[in-house]
Amino acid sequence: MSIRFPLWMNVLPTVGAVGGAVGLVTAISVVTYYFTPEYWEVGYMPTQPGSGFSHQIHAGKLGMDCRYCHTNVDKSAEANIPPVSTCMGCHTDGMLAPSYDPGEKVEFVRTAWEEDASIPWVRIHKVPDYVRNFPHHVHINAGVSCYSCHGQIEAMPIVYQAHSLSMAWCLDCHRGVEDATYGEDDPAKYLVPHDKVTDIEWVEMTWLGDMAGTQAQQVQAQQVLEGIKRAPPENCGACHY
Ligand code: HEC
Ligand code: HEC
Ligand code: HEC
Ligand code: HEC
Ligand code: HEC
Repeated sequence: MSIRFPLWMNVLPTVGAVGGAVGLVTAISVVTYYFTPEYWEVGYMPTQPGSGFSHQIHAGKLGMDCRYCHTNVDKSAEANIPPVSTCMGCHTDGMLAPSYDPGEKVEFVRTAWEEDASIPWVRIHKVPDYVRNFPHHVHINAGVSCYSCHGQIEAMPIVYQAHSLSMAWCLDCHRGVEDATYGEDDPAKYLVPHDKVTDIEWVEMTWLGDMAGTQAQQVQAQQVLEGIKRAPPENCGACHY
């Protein structure tokens, strides 16, 4: 029998198999990377009405406390979005000094006020309906900073989702806080002094920056930790119906 095919063709099936395997691995990695909840919605930044609302200007540059607008965040499960009247405290014509007045950029806010309408902000953070009412107040009062869950809000011209809000993400903190012992899983990164929960820049620069790992931080963190009444829950019923 003669050779029907040139010898080099023998490598073809191998090349095909290797190519196929590489393709499959790539496909699986892409699927697990992008479609598991771990990475879900991170970076989600919908287009907002008008020129949008800048946390960078209001919370960052002007230094307004989060609770000036999100008034219920430490009192109830739900963090509220402020009504237009809150904005009009500053954006009523003639209220701000001319050098501060953003002019046309706040027209959509004034129009909504005149029409007695609300501004249709697009919601960004949302846990699925099968998760029980997420309790903001419990977290804030336990010393969990807005920074831990929402990131550098004070630097965002338009808000985007900084963390996945996946179950694994919730539990990572819940377990870390419960097992906290210095040296292993430092609770300092999860809990901050009570008067600093909304001070994102301080948490970022000082608590997690200059102060990180110092004895002063460990003493403060321990005090905050001792103030937690119950260990963060891991039982299904705490977060699911
Ligand atoms: C001057 C009022 C004001 C202040 C101060 C303010 N916010 Fe907001 N915040 C808003 C408005 C209005 C929205 C809705 C529009 C948007 O999403 O940008 C919002 C939206 C948000 C959202 C996204 C909500 C969603 O849809 O998921 C988060 C998170 C948030 N704020 C956190 C903070 C934090 C943290 C601070 C303090 C560092 C803060 N805000 C300070 C007015 C304010
Ligand atoms: C405490 C006063 C104050 C409150 C309350 C306030 N703002 Fe402002 N806002 C300002 C000032 C001051 C500026 C201009 C700052 C600058 O340009 O340096 C501004 C700027 C803006 C701009 C222009 C942003 C840009 O890109 O230049 C918009 C839009 C705006 N505000 C919307 C809102 C909305 C919506 C609310 C209510 C949720 C609100 N503001 C509440 C003081 C306030
Ligand atoms: C432990 C994590 C965590 C902390 C801390 C936290 N948040 Fe949230 N936030 C969430 C989750 C989860 C959601 C989505 C809740 C839902 O779908 O019911 C959310 C939603 C929001 C919303 C949207 C509410 C709405 O009805 O549109 C605002 C505004 C908000 N957070 C502001 C804040 C502010 C301000 C702080 C700090 C004072 C803060 N959050 C601290 C996890 C957190
Ligand atoms: C950065 C840390 C952190 C993250 C992230 C976090 N938690 Fe918590 N959580 C805590 C701490 C600390 C407590 C304990 C508060 C207390 O009882 O004083 C707690 C308590 C709770 C409780 C018990 C409330 C009560 O009334 O006893 C629920 C429910 C809860 N968390 C749900 C969630 C869900 C759902 C997520 C994710 C979307 C989440 N948490 C993410 C730190 C965190
Ligand atoms: C600290 C709060 C928390 C606890 C405790 C918790 N879950 Fe969840 N769970 C969540 C959140 C938030 C989500 C939605 C995000 C996601 O799908 O990852 C979720 C999603 C789920 C999903 C859907 C997952 C998917 O990929 O669609 C299942 C199933 C589930 N949980 C089962 C459980 C079981 C079983 C337990 C007890 C062993 C439990 N959970 C405990 C917060 C929690």
